[in-house]
Amino acid sequence: MNSKKKEWETRFGYEYTRRNMFTPSELDQLYLDRYGVTRTGMNHEFLDLLDRDIVILEIGSNIGNQLHLLHNMGFKNLYGLEINDYAIKKSIKLHYGLPIYVIKGEAIDIPFKDSFFDLVYTSGVLIHINPNNIGKVIQEIIRCSKQYIWGFEYFQDEGYKQIKYHGQNNMLWKTDFKKLYLKNNPELKLITEKLYHYRENNYLTDQMFLLEK
Ligand SMILES: C[S@@+](CC[C@H](N)C(=O)[O-])C[C@H]1O[C@@H](n2cnc3c(N)ncnc32)[C@H](O)[C@@H]1O
Repeated sequence: MNSKKKEWETRFGYEYTRRNMFTPSELDQLYLDRYGVTRTGMNHEFLDLLDRDIVILEIGSNIGNQLHLLHNMGFKNLYGLEINDYAIKKSIKLHYGLPIYVIKGEAIDIPFKDSFFDLVYTSGVLIHINPNNIGKVIQEIIRCSKQYIWGFEYFQDEGYKQIKYHGQNNMLWKTDFKKLYLKNNPELKLITEKLYHYRENNYLTDQMFLLEK
């Protein structure tokens, strides 16, 4: 087993989950403090055009808060794929009774048929995939989506930069992930993209993008 995959599956993933145990409205507040716009505000800007009946998959859904915010916007068919058991357990408990279904699995081998979902997305997950595996993960995401691919990830205009994450190497990278999708996949086209700058740190920028197949 790849040791960094094991980190997310075990202690590191557990500690991340404990540190980020927000309610959906606390998550919105965190985005507001960080970028000057709530996550719900960003979601409206990108997804308002989509039918609320579409089937959506989040890769790396942690405790399910992003899915919960989509549910609050009216989306009704929400799935999560998550590698960490503790996060899955919390997710099931926190969103009990909502149409949010989280299963265990890995981004590199998504356990669903081709085009099973209308939209597949990541939020802060491609940044944690080793560059040696990113091509395969991107192909898996494209394979499982019938129409849309949505992403929110750390942004770096040029190159692929590794950053230390909680003192560890080989856990976090940033690049222009939208470009990685578009490279070698002529069936994809960019619908919208936007950069979000951290209010307190001019050097940090995240990118949201919506692609169509
Ligand atoms: C930084 S968190 C982001 C959580 C959530 N998407 C959000 O925006 O709040 C990354 C999540 O992805 C999960 N993860 C990391 N590598 C994964 C992989 N290869 N396959 C599936 N999930 C993964 C982690 O366990 C963690 O829950």
